[in-house]
Amino acid sequence: MPTLDEQTALDFPGEITIHYDDDSDLGRAGQGLQSFPLMNVALRARKLEYWLMSPAEQVALVFLLEHLRPKVAIEIGTRFGGSLQALAQFCDRVYSIDIDPDVPKRLASKFPNVEFLTGRSDDLLPPLIDRLQCEGTELSFALVDGDHSTDGVRKDLDNLLRFRPTVPLYIVMHDSSNPVCREGLRRAKWAANPCVHAVELDFVPGTVFRGKLWGGLALGILLPHERSGRFEITARSELTLRSLRSQQTLGLLPRAARKVKRMLLGTH
Ligand SMILES: C[S@@+](CC[C@H](N)C(=O)[O-])C[C@H]1O[C@@H](n2cnc3c(N)ncnc32)[C@H](O)[C@@H]1O
Repeated sequence: MPTLDEQTALDFPGEITIHYDDDSDLGRAGQGLQSFPLMNVALRARKLEYWLMSPAEQVALVFLLEHLRPKVAIEIGTRFGGSLQALAQFCDRVYSIDIDPDVPKRLASKFPNVEFLTGRSDDLLPPLIDRLQCEGTELSFALVDGDHSTDGVRKDLDNLLRFRPTVPLYIVMHDSSNPVCREGLRRAKWAANPCVHAVELDFVPGTVFRGKLWGGLALGILLPHERSGRFEITARSELTLRSLRSQQTLGLLPRAARKVKRMLLGTH
């Protein structure tokens, strides 16, 4: 007789997906491990939606959701539904905001506890936040993974930070290692919300991919009571990321010099 856990693994066996360096899909080549059976067990699904996050980011998100079990969550940026499948599994109700009208067409039938809102997050989020606040909603999770410009990230966060939570609220932001997104994270008005107790930019650090820093999860923790002590944004991988950035710049210099030489010589 299999134990309950063994039975779950049998019910949701999943598979290992790896994108090797010579993968025929050029968009995914070199990404390494993409999915593994334990994630199918955690999400209780035989087939997973394509998830635009690293395995470590996926695990971190699932851990948070599994332990918070949010009544209500908001996701900004859904695309193929990778992160949404985790939110839908562990939250009672999810609001998914995406500018792409194909998102609800792709996913609405699969996730009955998700309300799909189509449009720019900058337009949709303020009225949603105000409504949830008025209704006394127990919002306890938000994932920011939409507009990746500095101003886009900042605006999404500032709109979320209008909220005063009645239960702990965890705000997770993807691509916190990318310099453009990171700047938006730093510019957001965290300190102006007295319920913000911690902001860590490198909860999960990102990696260099195709010459640029991408990925990483930042985490903001809001509690229902006001903070009394010190507040500042922390970034445990700041020095690592800075050193990677300077190495990248150094790596680019010889390439730029070779390009100029080719131009001057008229060769390719
Ligand atoms: C990186 S994808 C999200 C990936 C998804 N969270 C996952 O983990 O698989 C970013 C999504 O944000 C959406 N998006 C970009 N700008 C937006 C905006 N201003 N408002 C709402 N959605 C936006 C895009 O249409 C896209 O689907």
